[in-house]
Amino acid sequence: MNVKQKLKRFSELGTFDRVIELEFKNLNENFEYKGNWANEVFKNNNPIVLELGCGKGEYTIDLAKKATGKNFIGVDIKGNRLWRGAKTGHEEGITNSAFLRTQIEFIEYFFAENEVSEIWITFPDPQLKDRREEKRLTHPNFLDKYHFLLNENGLVHLKTDSKELFEISVEYFKNESRGTLTCVSHDINAEPEMREEWQIETFYEQKFRKEGKAIQYLQFQFNS
Ligand SMILES: C[S@@+](CC[C@H](N)C(=O)[O-])C[C@H]1O[C@@H](n2cnc3c(N)ncnc32)[C@H](O)[C@@H]1O
Repeated sequence: MNVKQKLKRFSELGTFDRVIELEFKNLNENFEYKGNWANEVFKNNNPIVLELGCGKGEYTIDLAKKATGKNFIGVDIKGNRLWRGAKTGHEEGITNSAFLRTQIEFIEYFFAENEVSEIWITFPDPQLKDRREEKRLTHPNFLDKYHFLLNENGLVHLKTDSKELFEISVEYFKNESRGTLTCVSHDINAEPEMREEWQIETFYEQKFRKEGKAIQYLQFQFNS
């Protein structure tokens, strides 16, 4: 995609319904929807589900269509990718989907403690180099953030093609004493039953499947 197309997408993104972008310099503790996403953005009291590093937002959009009793928010820093899901949500009037453009590192500025019920992490960058360890979205520093955001019995779902990231992440979650690993699958297609929520394929998932890679999944539940 050339620069002109990217700029067009950036300016269009701001015109779609339920798209939130906040410049870094304007970040503070008083973000208007913090603690009020359901009431203010979605006009209901339904649970909030996040898709972190959502890219084009396939999970956000497809889950929103399937589970109309929940609200879904795709989070990514790349506006030209978010644009795809945000445009679909806007044009199809999927009122229980929204998109937030930010660094996930700043997520606590946007959501209050216990405001979220589930987090999906879909095909995150594996960040396998030691010096990039803290960038992994399953690193213990991020698990602290997820524990803050999630309400009682809140769930984290991870889907990845990367065997290395998966093994590392299983260890991170095993060492997380505030909850339990409730599902570990090294190949979702080899499981006796394909869960409905696994059947959504993201842009990256389609690419990895074409390369013959197995898709791995884990689910972790926080106790409190
Ligand atoms: C490999 S892509 C996967 C995109 C999508 N989930 C999929 O499966 O097609 C990883 C995405 O995570 C986003 N990302 C990675 N680290 C991030 C961070 N710290 N904050 C916000 N977005 C991040 C990138 O911009 C990118 O869109």
